[in-house]
Amino acid sequence: MNTPSINNALYDTLYEEWWSDESFMALLRTGIHPARLAYFRQILQTSGAGPQTSPQVLDIGCGGGFLAEAFAELGYQVTGIDRSDATLSIARRHATQQALDIHYEKGVAENLPIPPASMDVVCCCDVLEHVESLPQVVSEIARVLKPGGLFLFDTINRTPLSWLVAVKLAQDWRLTRVMPPNTHVWHQFIKPNDLQQLLGQQRLTLADISGLGPGVSPWAAVLALMRQKLGFSSYAQLGRDMRMVACKNQQIAYMGYARKQAG
Ligand SMILES: C[S@@+](CC[C@H](N)C(=O)[O-])C[C@H]1O[C@@H](n2cnc3c(N)ncnc32)[C@H](O)[C@@H]1O
Repeated sequence: MNTPSINNALYDTLYEEWWSDESFMALLRTGIHPARLAYFRQILQTSGAGPQTSPQVLDIGCGGGFLAEAFAELGYQVTGIDRSDATLSIARRHATQQALDIHYEKGVAENLPIPPASMDVVCCCDVLEHVESLPQVVSEIARVLKPGGLFLFDTINRTPLSWLVAVKLAQDWRLTRVMPPNTHVWHQFIKPNDLQQLLGQQRLTLADISGLGPGVSPWAAVLALMRQKLGFSSYAQLGRDMRMVACKNQQIAYMGYARKQAG
């Protein structure tokens, strides 16, 4: 059987969809995003990387700007990088509408248009499993971080359960799918140990890792999905209904942070 290729060109076709309640992208905004933001905020507060002391944040693969805007609202100076012109045009427009000063620039994660040791915080969320060369991206993250700087991430684990949920249920099966095929491909999912090893090779020390999953029972999740599929609720409501939280189970998705070693 042929190995499927990830469809990153998808993001060149997304405009209003980024911030619409009726698009599958709302699952990221109302489902995953609030949970990871709560987790990252706690890390930034406890690590001494508050906006007063640590202003420069780089958001790699920033998409429509969910994280970039959240960091800007917290008082950080934010740069967002993405490979997609379409996506960047929407991110810029939305930031302007929100009166947020965010610098958006076109670029790829494998070759960041960013000077060495210039960032206090780098985040790369829902992107590591999309890139062409994960080792190169991790090396770039390490290059642009200041010594002691923080790397925040979330991504998808490569397990049988993630194949079932993130590929088959979410993308492939007609009755359950909520996003286009090949939005994600299983072979690009990342085992936490593999990521930790790559981070360590670039002198990025993994400081914490947490599962990221629904805060409701599987039955409640299925019911919420069916409500959306039958037209009784929006994608945005489905994301909220999942009540995503930091959790112990890392079998599907996980998030965490690493610190660049000083010296
Ligand atoms: C699932 S979206 C995540 C958006 C955002 N990080 C978030 O979580 O809200 C993936 C984004 O990564 C971008 N992307 C994929 N591969 C990339 C690469 N190699 N370099 C830069 N951006 C990339 C896509 O264009 C898309 O906007």
